[in-house]
Order: sequence, then C-alpha cells, then structure tokens
Amino acid sequence: MDCDPGHDDAIALILAGAKHSALEILAVTTVAGNQSVEKNTKNALNILEVMGRKDIGVSVGATRPLIKPASFAAQIHGDTGLDGPKLPEVPTLKPTAKHAVDTIIESLKQSTEPVTIVATGPLTNIATALIKEPSITQYIESITIMGGGTFGNWTPTAEFNIWVDAEAATRVFDSGVPINVFGLDVTHQVLATDEVIQRFAKIENPIARFVVELLTFFKSTYKTHFNMDGGPIHDACTILYLLKPELFTMQHTHIDIEHQSALTYGTMVVDLSNVLQKENNAYFATAVDVPKVWDLIENILESYAQ
Ligand code: RIB
Ligand code: CA
Repeated sequence: MDCDPGHDDAIALILAGAKHSALEILAVTTVAGNQSVEKNTKNALNILEVMGRKDIGVSVGATRPLIKPASFAAQIHGDTGLDGPKLPEVPTLKPTAKHAVDTIIESLKQSTEPVTIVATGPLTNIATALIKEPSITQYIESITIMGGGTFGNWTPTAEFNIWVDAEAATRVFDSGVPINVFGLDVTHQVLATDEVIQRFAKIENPIARFVVELLTFFKSTYKTHFNMDGGPIHDACTILYLLKPELFTMQHTHIDIEHQSALTYGTMVVDLSNVLQKENNAYFATAVDVPKVWDLIENILESYAQ
C-alpha cells in the first residue's frame, strides 16, 4: 500500500489491516503528498502502532514528484498531516532501511501470487518502480488507486493526487496494467457526516475512537474549505472495493492524464462515452452502495476489539 497519510489513508490502512482481514498487506510505502514524506512516514508508523500491526514494514519513498516541486495539502490534513488525534511525537516503530521503490519491486518479485498495488497518494513511487524495473508488470494483479475523477478538488478539473504528479500518473496509465480508479465521482458519495461519526462513536475500542477523532477533524476542514457536511473517505474506497467489489459500479473506459497544459495540468480525462474509441485501460468507479459501506466499516472496526 503506497500512501501519504492523511486522514483517509489512515482509514484505508485500518480497513485493510484488521486482524481477520481478507487482505494481506505485504508492505506500506510512503510518498510526499498530503504532507512531506517525512511527516507522512511518521503518521504511517503511528497508525500501524495504533492498529497493533508492528509486523508491517514502512519504507520511505519520494520526497517530491518526478518533475514538479512538492505541493502539500496542509489546509485539509493539518500541519502534521494527521491533525486531530493525539499521537506520539516520535513513533516507536521505525521505517525499513530500504527505499519504497525497492520495497515495491522486491515485494512484487517475492510474492508467490500476483500482487495488488493500492495507491492512495500521488503516483510518484509507482511510476518510479515501473521506470526502474519495467518487468514488474508481470507480477501486478492490478493497480487500485484513489485519484482523479471527472471534476477536480485542487483545480477546477484536477484532483490532488493526480495533480501533484501528473507525469507519474501518465506513466502508470500507460503501463498496460489493469487499473481500478476511485475518483471524486464516487468518493464524494461516501461522506463521514455527524450521523456516521456518532454511529462509530458507539463502538467501544481504541481503533474506533481513533477513527472518530480522524473523521471529526477531517469533517471540519471539508466544511471550512468545501462547505461539505462530512469528510469524503476517499482512500478507503480502494480497500472497500478490494474487500467487497459488489459494493461498487465500475465502468471499463479509456483514461488519459493531462500533463502538459498550464490550465488543465493534472486533469484525468475519462472517456465514459467512448468518443475517442481508444482501447479501455481502466475500470472507473461511478457509484457505490453507501449504506452497505458504513455497515462494512462498522463490522471491521468492531473486529478490532475481538
Ligand atoms: O484528493 C483526495 C486525495 O488527496 C486523498 O488521497 C487524500 O488523502 C489526499 O491525498
Ligand atoms: Ca491520500
């Protein structure tokens, strides 16, 4: 799992890493995005500690995009990148000595079965792994990402993860690997409102309390900056799909990434009407069964107590 925690990255990790999860996390890798890669790494280490998953290694990745300088989202995730919950200033867990890109390449090569790469931040590490070792495509089941959409949240047409590193996103979408895309069209349907937060607040265990703190802060910044009544749990949609694909409606389509225009840099061009008649290269999420999403998350949070 390549991430930039980030409140919704944290929810995704918690959903994927539950004790009885159907998913096995081979590695966590971090990338500059919501905050610096140093802060995102510290957050990932603290999150895994809270989850009781000291067995999962965290490898540090790119400090900046392939071409552009780094851009952070402090107004959404705070100065720490995970504002809200009280977490240790110095995590007890330490990152691995291996760079994220090498961890990704080696995890793929060492796995006895095809691996799903989940990417919930800018795609810099994934693109770099593909550039360094193009042969890894044979080991990848799919690349399942949160990013993009048919509208933007960082520019009028570009979503943050893609906008931070559109060159990297272009390389990923050109890879020929099956890609599952959870963009704003679907993530903005899954809003953690007061009602949702109160529902999770009834679950008596440290993880549920941690999630309530995360969602409470996230809701506040989305109210301030987007006047939304809940924080969209963007990144969690990748894991919810992998756990229960039937919750989502996916459309096979062709996606290109704009990486040259000054006005529309970072735009995900989703040809849902197949105007260009190009070969489909991605499955794009268009709808989700929201009530069943909250039921699934509630069950997973409750499983942390057992
Ligand atoms: O635009 C939403 C995405 O940007 C999410 O992955 C969030 O964590 C931020 O990285
Ligand atoms: Ca993220």
